[in-house]
This record gives sequence, structure tokens and C-alpha cells, in this order.
Amino acid sequence: MKRVEALLTDPLYLEYIQRNTSIEEEEKFCKHDLQHMIDVARITYILVLEHQDLNYYLKEANLSGKLAAKETIYAAGLLHDIGKWQEYRTGVDHASLGARLAHELLPRAFFNDKEVEVVCQAIYEHRHISKDMSFLGERLHRADNLSRACLQCEARHRCVKFKNKEVGAYLLVY
Ligand SMILES: [Fe+2]
Repeated sequence: MKRVEALLTDPLYLEYIQRNTSIEEEEKFCKHDLQHMIDVARITYILVLEHQDLNYYLKEANLSGKLAAKETIYAAGLLHDIGKWQEYRTGVDHASLGARLAHELLPRAFFNDKEVEVVCQAIYEHRHISKDMSFLGERLHRADNLSRACLQCEARHRCVKFKNKEVGAYLLVY
């Protein structure tokens, strides 16, 4: 996955990740650091494979093949919260900010226009579930919720998402 490697070693990507890490230094829970991005990338890909959806996805997104499908799924996971540091500064939802930053980063890692569009759309959609969202946006949303180890989190009883059973690894049993 050379393009994913290119993204992961891009100094600008690493700078944005570092901004997330620095701004959340005092936070104990639900960080938006590199580990979270990697977790979501892997879970998104697992969800697609578990349901034998890779061929469906590459046709729906009009991608060139399975490698392009895997790379775009990983890129979406690795970039989905890249705008979080800007949300802390501006109050604007990080999904739209992140889509904008991803639009800048993906061509630097040699993703083509079509792939950039698919990944940015999924990042833009990942915060909220909706009927007409893209395939990748829906999987990314689910993976993001599955990635949090809520049962070990001491703040879970104050967390609305946990109360509503929207987040947490226990969702894996459904
Ligand atoms: Fe996330």
C-alpha cells in the first residue's frame, strides 16, 4: 500500500496529527490521535471484508481494483478526524474541516481525483448516520463508533453516545 505509506510519512499529515495530539494533551478519553486513526482504518476494512463487500464498494465508487479499494478505505480511516484541531479553534464541525484538509493531502499521496472525491465524501459524512450516505461513509461511521473502548472508560456514564449505545466495542456482538 505505497500510497497509504506516502500519506503516513507526509510531514503535513504528521503535523496535523501532532496538532490533534497537542490540543488534547489533557484529555483522558476519546482522543483523535494517530492510534485512533489507525484503529478506525483497520476496523473499516474489517467491516468491509466481513460482509464480503469489497467488490461492491469498488464498483459503487468506480475504482480501478482491490488495491485502490483497500487504499481508499485506509486513507479514509487515517484522515477522518484530521480536522479535529481546527474544530477546537473555530467550533466548526471537524467532518467538513477534515474533508477540506484531506482534499489537500490525498493528491500529495498520489490518489487520483475520483479517489479523492470518494474519501472526502466519506469523511464529510462520517459524523452522522443518514439514509443517503455513501457506502464508505456509513462503514467509516460504524468503525469510528466501534473503535472506542467505552467499557474501560470512567466517563462512560456521562457520555450521551454511550448511553444511547452508539459507541463501544460491545457493538461488535450485534
Ligand atoms: Fe474518530
